[in-house]
Amino acid sequence: MHFKSLSLLALSIFQPVHSFAIQSRSSSSTLRTQCQKHLICPKDTLFVSPTDHRATHKTIQSAISSLPNDTSSHTILILEGSYNEQLNVTRPGPITILGQSDSPSDPSKNKVTVSFAAANQDSTGTIDNVWFSVLVVAPTLDASLIGSGTTGFAVPDDTPFGNTDFRVYNVDFVNDFAPYTDGPAAAMMISRANGGFYYCGFYSYQDTIYVGKLGNAYFYKSIIAGETDFLYGFGTAWIQSSEIRLRGCGGGITAWKGTNTTFENKYGVYIVDSNVAAANSSVAPSIKGKCALGRPWNALHRSIFANTYEDGSILPAGYIQWEDRYTEGSTLMAEYEAFGPGFNRTARVDGGYDTLLSKKGYQTYSTPEVVFQDQEGKLGYVDWIDWETVGGK
Ligand SMILES: *[C@@H]1O[C@H](CO)[C@@H](O)[C@H](O)[C@H]1NC(C)=O
Ligand SMILES: *[C@@H]1O[C@H](CO)[C@@H](O)[C@H](O)[C@H]1NC(C)=O
Ligand SMILES: *[C@@H]1O[C@H](CO)[C@@H](O)[C@H](O)[C@H]1NC(C)=O
Ligand SMILES: *[C@@H]1O[C@H](CO)[C@@H](O)[C@H](O)[C@H]1NC(C)=O
Ligand SMILES: *[C@@H]1O[C@H](CO)[C@@H](O)[C@H](O)[C@H]1NC(C)=O
Repeated sequence: MHFKSLSLLALSIFQPVHSFAIQSRSSSSTLRTQCQKHLICPKDTLFVSPTDHRATHKTIQSAISSLPNDTSSHTILILEGSYNEQLNVTRPGPITILGQSDSPSDPSKNKVTVSFAAANQDSTGTIDNVWFSVLVVAPTLDASLIGSGTTGFAVPDDTPFGNTDFRVYNVDFVNDFAPYTDGPAAAMMISRANGGFYYCGFYSYQDTIYVGKLGNAYFYKSIIAGETDFLYGFGTAWIQSSEIRLRGCGGGITAWKGTNTTFENKYGVYIVDSNVAAANSSVAPSIKGKCALGRPWNALHRSIFANTYEDGSILPAGYIQWEDRYTEGSTLMAEYEAFGPGFNRTARVDGGYDTLLSKKGYQTYSTPEVVFQDQEGKLGYVDWIDWETVGGK
């Protein structure tokens, strides 16, 4: 009986109320979770569901495409469910995408999944195919291209910057092309744009996340699953308090290409206060001691695992060579205060590719403020990060 009255109460809370406007976009996380849990959302929020009568759009892409190509801010709530579609975000103005959730601070309980099955199967490596990714955030098709070789696709200089403030909460992106490494099958690609991903999931096997040229991506309490080179790109990625799940080993966890710029750049991938571990106990025995932390896609690769737990899946030597690209003094494949059964200091030193940073050496990479840069190289470019959610600067 108690249950009955409770569920009636819950039903009445679930009525959407569109009657209040919030003043600034940096709404408190309370307002955000009200929307995600109880569907009480900021005025003008678009609702997506293929079936719910309250929905304004049946697909996520139709909601994104309905937004004006300008700098205004918009919020989209995706109602619980599985969506089989590809998303393409080009507009410059802020977009917040919320996944309906009863547990907005637990990505393992996400109820919204966007999936697509596609991979780049071009064996010559010359086709700059990006249509395999579930989500693409980039101003133009050219800006989103990867390109082969050590310098990648030459994005035209006059390409505008794309989305300046793209945020996603509690959405899982799944590229389920194959349950093993079988060509690039990204779950997410972001280039010439800023994106924050909170309590999200990214699931694929090869090349799960691509952060392209002038891409800035911040991940918080998210799950990133892959097997081969699954954090790759040219831009800057900061992965905070997240889970890196190893579904197998191939290449390395990280495979970055750097770029020479007229200013000193901090392009690279920073995995901080996180957990790197076998995806589950069935796969764990077969990958014990085998997974490399990374390999240099070009000589300017930069990656750091900092204050991060590494389980026994990690190769004792840590990082590995790729052809002959590792270049002393240019390549930075590093760890700072990494720990756990996967961290073997002796083997790291013997291996010869892993840099074990000192406190002083790490300082210059130790916060988002000192690594994220705008297009001109100005540091401190972090106003697109949801500081309230991640706990202040
Ligand atoms: C959006 O507006 C910009 C600037 O006016 C323009 O360059 C771009 O082509 C537009 N994009 C689309 C998809 O219409
Ligand atoms: C995304 O949309 C833009 C503008 O419509 C288009 O030029 C581009 O080809 C699309 N990119 C992808 C990867 O579909
Ligand atoms: C464990 O992970 C592997 C690799 O992703 C997968 O193939 C397998 O189905 C998973 N097993 C269980 C029991 O979840
Ligand atoms: C960066 O500059 C160095 C030194 O001039 C050069 O050897 C290297 O090929 C350049 N790398 C890229 C990716 O442009
Ligand atoms: C660490 O690596 C060294 C050198 O490869 C090896 O001799 C040693 O057994 C390893 N230690 C552990 C605990 O695996």
